[in-house]
Amino acid sequence: MKTFVCAVLVGLLCLPPSQAKQSSPKVQVYSRLQGEVGKENTLICHVTEFHPPEINIELLRNSQVMAGAHQTDLAFEKDWYYHLTKHVPFTPQKGEAFACNVTHMGIPKIYIWEADV
Ligand SMILES: *[C@@H]1O[C@H](CO)[C@@H](O)[C@H](O)[C@H]1NC(C)=O
Repeated sequence: MKTFVCAVLVGLLCLPPSQAKQSSPKVQVYSRLQGEVGKENTLICHVTEFHPPEINIELLRNSQVMAGAHQTDLAFEKDWYYHLTKHVPFTPQKGEAFACNVTHMGIPKIYIWEADV
């Protein structure tokens, strides 16, 4: 009987947060408008379905961190998985490469912006 009560208690205490399993982020890199050389635009890195919530997102221009980026507040969806969006105003120039660097669980990963510029 004692064991049973304990099991029930542990089950209740552990319910919502522990349901979320470790999960790698899904990342989309895109721009608000169609990519065009010399045209003002916004570069967006949309990161979803990750857990735990600690994450680092950098927007890169030719492998350099872009200044002036804004990040949304950490929010969670169903099942305690988190999502975040980081964006920065930019004007792509010929020969420039853009990417989003997402570091989760200590592992950095680069996602390239596929523009038709
Ligand atoms: C990506 O971010 C991680 C963590 O900040 C950093 O260690 C790594 O050098 C970055 N990679 C690039 C290509 O900037």
